[in-house]
Amino acid sequence: MAAPRILSGIKPTGMPHIGNYFGMMRPAIEWQERGEAYYFIADYHALTTVHDARMLREHSLGIALDFLACGLDPSRAVLFRQSDVPEVTELAWILSCVTPMPMLENCHAYKDHLAKEKVPSHGLFAYPVLMAADILLYDSNVVPVGRDQKQHVEVTRDLAQKMNGLFGSVFVVPEASIQEAVQTVPGLDGRKMSKSYQNAVEIFLEEKALRKKIMGIVTDSTPVEEPKNPEGSAIVGLYRLFAPEEAVQGMEADFRRGGVGYGDLKKRLFEAMWEYFGPMRRRRAELAGELGEVERVLREGAGKAREQAVRTMERVRKAVGLR
Ligand code: ADP
Ligand code: TRP
Repeated sequence: MAAPRILSGIKPTGMPHIGNYFGMMRPAIEWQERGEAYYFIADYHALTTVHDARMLREHSLGIALDFLACGLDPSRAVLFRQSDVPEVTELAWILSCVTPMPMLENCHAYKDHLAKEKVPSHGLFAYPVLMAADILLYDSNVVPVGRDQKQHVEVTRDLAQKMNGLFGSVFVVPEASIQEAVQTVPGLDGRKMSKSYQNAVEIFLEEKALRKKIMGIVTDSTPVEEPKNPEGSAIVGLYRLFAPEEAVQGMEADFRRGGVGYGDLKKRLFEAMWEYFGPMRRRRAELAGELGEVERVLREGAGKAREQAVRTMERVRKAVGLR
């Protein structure tokens, strides 16, 4: 089989957190060795929530730095800004003309919005169609994402199949790749770690800020000397991501035995996380001094991505009768 085409995106809505890293960034970086990878900064998607030009620009560049610092290799993977390839919005329109409203009404993000009695924008409603366009524009085979994005990849598959049924085989039907080994990463309060729950631990926080966040993990009031339950503890859940198996077992034993307070267990977690991201943090600091180089990577990535996008759009326009 030819090398797979791999594609994923991340919204520039803030500093990436541990859930973003283990759910999406690290798997995407691993995939770059196994095929032709296209990774982009989903700035059009971020516009559904970020309405501040300076913030959007800053976060977009920030995410590029983060990705490169974490190991994305621009000689293997194409890294670009979504909005540098505006063809994607044309494809989104074409797809939206075959997208049943109920399919979008059924999507989690939209339903969550309604449940909170917020008024969703049309952009938020149409979000999965733009995401389908991202994926289909690059003839992607594999889409590495966290579990919560699986539904969006299902929508993409449905739309690809529908288009193929109507217009002949226009699109490659992609598949999501979910890290089964990485469960949804827990946040400070034990719920799914998410920017929107204010329970996230950003991967590149300064030492003091990181320590403070980790010390703020919500625990019960079991006294130091008493045994504690490691099951479902966010401290153990996070520690597992950074520490070798024996160390995790050691921590679980300390929970069960009693005599070790939550404060000490949290310190152990802090140390492990601080060390884990050390090399990446140093690389990020270097890159921050080479912003011209980062811009060059993004520009070059946009050029390569656009070549592919233009080719796909010629095929799509012809198939639907726009040429
Ligand atoms: P957030 O929920 O913080 O807004 P995003 O929706 O921007 O995060 O997610 C970016 C990527 O990170 C997606 O692929 C998503 O599935 C993954 N991701 C986000 N939070 C987690 C988590 N807690 N555990 C695993 N993966 C996650
Ligand atoms: N919706 C994704 C998220 O919130 C980001 C994204 C946009 C994406 N387009 C994509 C991910 C295409 C994978 C493929 O994380």
